[in-house]
Amino acid sequence: MEAQVGRVLALPYPDASFDAVWFANTSQYLTDDELMTALAEFRRVVRPGGLVAVKEHAGALTAIMPAPPGVTLRGYAAWAAAGST
Ligand SMILES: C[S@@+](CC[C@H](N)C(=O)[O-])C[C@H]1O[C@@H](n2cnc3c(N)ncnc32)[C@H](O)[C@@H]1O
Repeated sequence: MEAQVGRVLALPYPDASFDAVWFANTSQYLTDDELMTALAEFRRVVRPGGLVAVKEHAGALTAIMPAPPGVTLRGYAAWAAAGST
């Protein structure tokens, strides 16, 4: 297995070089225009008939039970304030 760092807005791969793309938990950081560019890039690097799969995290659907409403979001805020990534 190889790993490579790149930008989803300009993937460093030739056309039709993969069977599939898996794009997880990152579309939320893109503007609408950037997302359209990224999707075009995924389509470009996947072979015809290949698969592009996009998954996103829905923080509002995360729940810790029993707990007061919003505890998960306050946890994220505390985590961010602490400088974690
Ligand atoms: C919430 S993490 C998700 C990481 C991983 N995909 C996962 O599901 O565990 C979001 C990632 O998106 C990356 N990211 C944000 N904008 C990007 C861009 N334009 N190109 C490539 N990566 C980007 C960030 O560096 C970060 O690693």
